[in-house]
Amino acid sequence: MNHPGISLVFSAQAVSDSFPLDRWPTTERGLNAVGGTEMHARFDFTGSNVLVTGAGRNIGRSIALEFAKAGANVAINVRRNEQEGELVAQEARSHGVRVNVYVADVADFNEVAPMITAVKEDFGFIDIYISNVGLRLRQSLEGISLEDWRRVLDTNLSASFFLAKLLVADMKRERRGRIVHMSGLDGFIGQALRAHTVATKAGLHGFTKALALEVAEYGITVNTVVPGIINTTRPKKHYPHWDPIRLADEVPLRRIGDPREIAWTCMFLASDEAGYITGQAIHVNGGLAMF
Ligand SMILES: NC(=O)c1ccc[n+]([C@@H]2O[C@H](COP(=O)([O-])OP(=O)(O)OC[C@H]3O[C@@H](n4cnc5c(N)ncnc54)[C@H](OP(=O)(O)O)[C@@H]3O)[C@@H](O)[C@H]2O)c1
Repeated sequence: MNHPGISLVFSAQAVSDSFPLDRWPTTERGLNAVGGTEMHARFDFTGSNVLVTGAGRNIGRSIALEFAKAGANVAINVRRNEQEGELVAQEARSHGVRVNVYVADVADFNEVAPMITAVKEDFGFIDIYISNVGLRLRQSLEGISLEDWRRVLDTNLSASFFLAKLLVADMKRERRGRIVHMSGLDGFIGQALRAHTVATKAGLHGFTKALALEVAEYGITVNTVVPGIINTTRPKKHYPHWDPIRLADEVPLRRIGDPREIAWTCMFLASDEAGYITGQAIHVNGGLAMF
């Protein structure tokens, strides 16, 4: 299905994994116009070890695959769906790198701690980690149970705290490391019916700044990536009436983002070239909101 004025710019291979072609068009001023599918080739992470949480699909999957293409060994975390993780791992291994899948709920310290022990046993030092998991529930204040509040808090915020507790000491000892947290626009502009999501995503950026200051003297950087509207299967689940064409028209760049554009931003922040960037929120939203 093509919308007037809108044509598909992705190859079937590029998009087939996470969203059906007929539901997720982007505009003709698409990815190829902004750098293209080979951008990963500009990064070289050969020999680096990267951990990506929530990497079984969508943005996390894209981050894992793009790092693998750039030569990094990748530790893939999934919450429960090991098969999803294995599919990503198979694809990542085709780039000749080492890839393992770890099943753990990173919102639960009792699960994430043994997972990190296993990751360190398998990979040694983790140079880079991307704390990607997020939960975006739509509920009125009255509708948010204490249990939901706690679940969103633990997923969107505590998980990043747990990873830092378990990985930063090694980075300090090595005097290097790159940390990227995944936030969301809601956390910066607010949104009704998402008090827990907004509070925790905003809190994540506060955590980023505090941690960045605490580890700066060790040469470790900590940043937040803030995606705008990204072409994933996730919105379909939460928004049955989601209309990507209408949304694309609201974005100044006239398209919604590709998950790889979030991955590439993470890769830039993890690169040597980004060594002077820390404590920042990098917005990747096609101009939807400007700060
Ligand atoms: N997509 C967007 O347009 C958009 C916009 C702004 C911000 N973001 C942020 O970008 C990040 C990724 O977004 P996405 O759209 O790719 O999300 P997604 O499709 O919901 O994928 C998130 C992945 O993380 C996993 N996960 C969730 N909680 C976990 C936990 N506690 N432990 C381990 N894995 C867990 C999920 O697995 P299960 O399903 O099995 O739990 C899923 O595989 C999130 O932080 C999100 O808030 C996305």
